[in-house]
Amino acid sequence: MEEHLRHPVFKLLANIADKNQIEAYVIGGFVRDLLLKRPSKDIDIVVLGNGIEFAELAGKLLNAKVSVFKNFGTAMLRYQDLEIEFVGARKESYRADSRKPIVENGTIKDDQLRRDFTINALAISLNKANYGAMVDPFNGINDLQQKIIKTPLEPELTFSDDPLRMMRGIRFASQLSFAIEAETLAAIAKQKNRISIVSKERITDELNKIILSPVPSVGFKYLFDTGLLHLIFPQMANLYGVEIINGKGHKDNFYHTLQVLDNICKDTDDLWLRWAAILHDIAKPATKRFENGHGWTFHGHEDKGARMVPQIFAQLKLPLNEKMKFVQKLVQLHLRPIVLAQEVVTDSAVRRLLFDAGDDIESLMMLCNADVTTKNEYKVKKYRNNFELVKQKLKDVEERDKVRNWQPPVTGQDIMNTFGIAAGKEVGLIKNAIREAILEGEIPNSYDEALKFMLRKGGEFGLKPVTPLPL
Ligand code: CTP
Repeated sequence: MEEHLRHPVFKLLANIADKNQIEAYVIGGFVRDLLLKRPSKDIDIVVLGNGIEFAELAGKLLNAKVSVFKNFGTAMLRYQDLEIEFVGARKESYRADSRKPIVENGTIKDDQLRRDFTINALAISLNKANYGAMVDPFNGINDLQQKIIKTPLEPELTFSDDPLRMMRGIRFASQLSFAIEAETLAAIAKQKNRISIVSKERITDELNKIILSPVPSVGFKYLFDTGLLHLIFPQMANLYGVEIINGKGHKDNFYHTLQVLDNICKDTDDLWLRWAAILHDIAKPATKRFENGHGWTFHGHEDKGARMVPQIFAQLKLPLNEKMKFVQKLVQLHLRPIVLAQEVVTDSAVRRLLFDAGDDIESLMMLCNADVTTKNEYKVKKYRNNFELVKQKLKDVEERDKVRNWQPPVTGQDIMNTFGIAAGKEVGLIKNAIREAILEGEIPNSYDEALKFMLRKGGEFGLKPVTPLPL
């Protein structure tokens, strides 16, 4: 492996180890990513002895500031673009009620045994006798080749040591397209309730990494099958299942949602657009009805779904800012382009969609495109064709009418000045009427036309312009 330790910093660390007669190893994610050819800037060094003292020696030599985390027995320094963390080898055990470790000195194998997965327990020696040698007592290399997530220790112990590892295991499976080994998976199902001692922020961090992985359904299926999803995000688990009445079933909204999510991931890396895909049908269970003669309906699931978004974001400690508003807007509007694609597209419907979606129109179109999951080839073709029509029409209408970020051509102040009236009900009514007339295509979206329309409308309310017109 020596050829992999190309960076000169490894030789420097090896010299410190040699001079001070301390065994040192590169370990964990850096080694894993090296073998997976995923370049990484985070280096973990484990030493048989005091990690903090070793870090301070390294800091002096590299002329780098060392940050010490006494409680954890770790220290970190930045060197060039690298972040190097040092820790003493541990024969670690955790208290049952928290994630805080009790540190004990151990051998390299002890330390590797207490790490989360075999693929994360690989170490490369920095010692003179075997510099660059791979130390792999738990067959991590084999598991990397076989694409398997497996714990070095008995899995129930590994997860009870640190329950966040259940999320990490599923996250690695999703990021790397690996399978979780059967016993490890069974242990997650068994230990799932221990996730309750992990902070919501850390759970959501892992969840977001799953969502950002190439095919997130891999991770979500594991979350569902182990029962973790029911604990961390019950609204999503609730999408699962098919009910049948009078021989009529509806689609399984959990698997449908996963398909929409996987679909959109082919088009975008944007976390929030991916969240919109996850949440677009979130209110289907709550709005589900069986109507005789009609079958299953989910009336208003877009409105109710949009109302659920802030509550779900708060529960998952996701940001309650414009990202949340974006997701909410997409959930609210997600049916609109589909409806357009099914019908004859009128200009006014297109104008209204542009008006409501504003700059998020492209994201909305992407979501709707991903939402087409029917197996019926004929229907897919029809939708896609109509979608292209809608897209073209959106472009034409926007070029002509400019309603995408619509600002009223005539303001409330203009209305008050024209008719010499104070702020009040009429001003709002006239403003709305102007907007409606533009969206319906009764008048063009221009100042002159809006002004003429305003005068007519004011007349209907018995208002007369003050002369001369102050505009
Ligand atoms: N580790 C562990 N249990 C945890 C977290 C980390 O055993 N709950 C160990 C693993 O050996 C891991 C190493 O610490 O490889 C470094 O952890 P971290 O930097 O969090 O993760 P990486 O494995 O490097 O992966 P990523 O950067 O993708 O999070």
